Amino acid sequence: MTTLAILTAAGSGARLGRDLPKALVDLGGFPLVLHAARRLVGSGVVDALVVTAPDGLRDVVADLLITDAHVTVPVTVVDGGPTRQASVAAGLAVADASHDVVLVHDAARPLVPADLVRRVDAAVRAGHDAVVPGLPVTDTVKQVVPGDDVELVVGTPDRAWLRAVQTPQGFTRELLERAHKAGRERSGSEAAAATDDAGLVEALGEPVHIVRGDAAAAKITTERDLRMAALELED
Ligand code: C5P
Repeated sequence: MTTLAILTAAGSGARLGRDLPKALVDLGGFPLVLHAARRLVGSGVVDALVVTAPDGLRDVVADLLITDAHVTVPVTVVDGGPTRQASVAAGLAVADASHDVVLVHDAARPLVPADLVRRVDAAVRAGHDAVVPGLPVTDTVKQVVPGDDVELVVGTPDRAWLRAVQTPQGFTRELLERAHKAGRERSGSEAAAATDDAGLVEALGEPVHIVRGDAAAAKITTERDLRMAALELED
């Protein structure tokens, strides 16, 4: 079995408020996308990498990754799409059909531990066709009717049943392709693009399994997240 990783890096990162896309923002001397690529490759289970690049920055991202001594697997860089779902689909479209397992990882989670990458990959190889890392939720979560200022609460799910999910999310290539194809066929009839790949698999009615996540794989959205990641890097 071989594993391909699709590294999504095409987002604008508007919430970070920088003048360059989030994946190229510096963390401890290196851009987020390079941290993420090094960690995926460093896990030892990734045989090839496809990276989705922000608009007009394909060559910049390619230079960065292909010349890095730690990124020792073949790298293909493609233009991302208008949504994360479209970017993953663009990555899948160029994926070598010889890979049986696909891990989809967000450059926005640059400090993903190698152990976590191995845990997800191993669970897929062990026969679970869709695997996501998840952590118990420590906050009480309310479901609301979204509003501008004051919002109406319509429910409080029991948090014992909730998991906050991370990436990499792992799939058999066959299932991930089928899920994206069905997602594309639905788009237009359903409003929003999926924010994770497992959601597309769930929509097919196929099982998705959770393995233990890791707080170090936290997602960087705001300046505060970036400062937390910088602290994590110093440890
Ligand atoms: O915007 P958000 O942080 O949720 O994006 C998650 C990941 O998806 C990021 O790594 C981002 O670069 C990527 N993305 C993408 N193409 C888009 C939007 C987001 O590759 N159009």
